[in-house]
Amino acid sequence: IIASRLLTHVGKLPPMVQQLGCINRGLKVSVVGSVGGIGQPLSLLLKLNPDIEKLSLYDIKNTTGVGVDLSHINTRASVCPFEGKDGLKKAMDKADIVVVPAGLPRKPGMKREDLVDVNATVACEVAVAASEVCPGAMLAFITNPINVIVPIVATILKAKGTYDPNRLFGVTSLDVVRAQTFVADILNSNPQKVNIPVIGGHTGRTILPILSQCDPPFNGTVKEREELIKHIQNAGTEVVNAKDGLGSATLSMAFAASHFINALIRGIKGSKDQCVVECAYVESDVTEAQFFATPLVLGPQGIEQNTGLPELDDEERKALDFMLPILKESIEKGIKIGEDMM
Ligand code: NAD
Ligand code: LMR
Repeated sequence: IIASRLLTHVGKLPPMVQQLGCINRGLKVSVVGSVGGIGQPLSLLLKLNPDIEKLSLYDIKNTTGVGVDLSHINTRASVCPFEGKDGLKKAMDKADIVVVPAGLPRKPGMKREDLVDVNATVACEVAVAASEVCPGAMLAFITNPINVIVPIVATILKAKGTYDPNRLFGVTSLDVVRAQTFVADILNSNPQKVNIPVIGGHTGRTILPILSQCDPPFNGTVKEREELIKHIQNAGTEVVNAKDGLGSATLSMAFAASHFINALIRGIKGSKDQCVVECAYVESDVTEAQFFATPLVLGPQGIEQNTGLPELDDEERKALDFMLPILKESIEKGIKIGEDMM
């Protein structure tokens, strides 16, 4: 663990011994918003994970059809669909992990922040239910705007007395997936072999890919670097515009979220050979922003270690300074909304 503090490259941490407190039984994972554009392919990908014993699906409607469909796949997880308001607590009861792709997506011309009023209500319902029926679960929120939603949920869980900052995550894995893909396109290399931390939050310039730490190295010109960073930061909007009113990223998000949930599961199960390291937006003391995404070592109790800020070059430090007031404003807004909801 001490050695891992010195290393900043995602995936380059030293092998670990079996972790204490890991769970050996099959896990219960609940997908809230399982009928949606992300929810369906995410549920499919999670159905393939042999460590999941129960895959519990919740949505406000039409969950049964998705559940019956998935249940015919010949993998371990038994699929339990729930619908309607009463179904939420049943679906989340004693879950080990709750992943939340519920809520409104953007349309062209909208900012993620425009979703906050509607999606705060969804996040609040999940936080309240989690406090009652699965207070020890890992909670992974996909719902936008992530920068605001996670502080809302943290505030509600605190008010309910069930907040564990090591178990609440805003899923920013899609930013890492995109950074890996776009870098690999330029380097003509395998995207799965590209390591690049993406820190900060999940809107515009709060998404900060740390190209100086990219492995293999990215040695582009200043202009190429700027274009690549903008591409990563605007990728969500590119998808929204390309879908032309039919929503935002769903398939790539489902892939990214299943990658993150599989990492959480490897952490819970106690990875035998390698540290599990993923970037996510969590409560943090790494910067002056109370919530911030950095590479995290995941273990049986959630965040085992926050590896802190990667080494930054001068441009990246300036970009960090630029983003912090934006992020802090979103966090303050989230805390205020959370307090008002209680
Ligand atoms: P969608 O409209 O296709 O699906 C959303 C689902 O949520 C629907 O099935 C809907 O019935 C359900 N839902 C609504 N209110 C609910 C409630 N109270 N309880 C349970 N379920 C409820 O939307 P989508 O494309 O799947 O996107 C979902 C969310 O994910 C959006 O907020 C979107 O902005 C966000 N998103 C985040 C990222 C990220 O990187 N974190 C990436 C893509 C999308
Ligand atoms: C994304 O990055 O694709 C998501 O946050 C969805 C969006 O609204 O851009």
